[in-house]
Amino acid sequence: MAHVLSFAMQKGGVGKTTTALNVGAILAAKGARVLLIDLDPQANLTQGLGVDPSTIDYSTYEVLVNPEHGTAFATLTTPFGVDLVPANLDLAGAELELASKVAREQLLRKALREARTQYEYILIDPPPSLGLFTLNALAAADAAIVPLQAQAYAFRAMPQLEVTIDLVREINPDLMIGGIVCTIVDAGTNLGRSVERQIRTRYGDLVFQTTIPRNVKLAEAPAAGEPISSYAPGSAGAGAYRALTDEIEARYGR
Ligand SMILES: Nc1ncnc2c1ncn2[C@@H]1O[C@H](COP(=O)(O)OP(=O)(O)O)[C@@H](O)[C@H]1O
Ligand SMILES: [Mg+2]
Repeated sequence: MAHVLSFAMQKGGVGKTTTALNVGAILAAKGARVLLIDLDPQANLTQGLGVDPSTIDYSTYEVLVNPEHGTAFATLTTPFGVDLVPANLDLAGAELELASKVAREQLLRKALREARTQYEYILIDPPPSLGLFTLNALAAADAAIVPLQAQAYAFRAMPQLEVTIDLVREINPDLMIGGIVCTIVDAGTNLGRSVERQIRTRYGDLVFQTTIPRNVKLAEAPAAGEPISSYAPGSAGAGAYRALTDEIEARYGR
């Protein structure tokens, strides 16, 4: 059975998509069967894997509209060893369209029933807002992984996230906070270091040991349509994501 992990934080620009994409690709390179789900109409994950959203036949939109059909019909293979259910702008209209459906937060969970038996990891990349897609992601997941950018106001986002998790636990009682990752850390600055220290003091073992540094190669790789492990395998960003992936494997196994 797959470990279903959703990256969660209802704030953009914290490294959710970068983490989903790179951890997914590294897990796949280590031999795991990995499915990535792009739930963001902006389709950053899809584009980051070199797929042009305007060319796809099916997206997470069709998956959410027809959850009884599973995900295989919309799944693409990529040159990076991960499978992908891509997103496109169709998804932007789905939120309103699905609002009247029964059990509308459980659509993705239902759609993933078969995929759960076929993959070792399913990683979900939700949009940066607390809407129906994020609720679907958290309702489908076993654990939420929280990327937290070590900035002065990073803490303000955590209480919001805890409220979300409490809400989702009413739908999905098994949901855990699987871990917190300090992302886009400016290690050279006192602020970056001191915020990271505070996060570690407050959340202890929930925080992964690995810190993801601010690294220009990580910012460039999506435009090339490649994960960091392919675009710049020797970069500090690639090394950090390899270390984080080792920790995730140690926590969840295969
Ligand atoms: N460690 C990093 N160093 C430099 N740039 C990064 C890093 N992580 C993410 N980025 C860049 O920051 C932006 C936001 O990251 P992204 O993963 O898309 O965040 P989110 O999905 O939470 O909105 C993107 O342009 C991405 O390429
Ligand atoms: Mg994103």
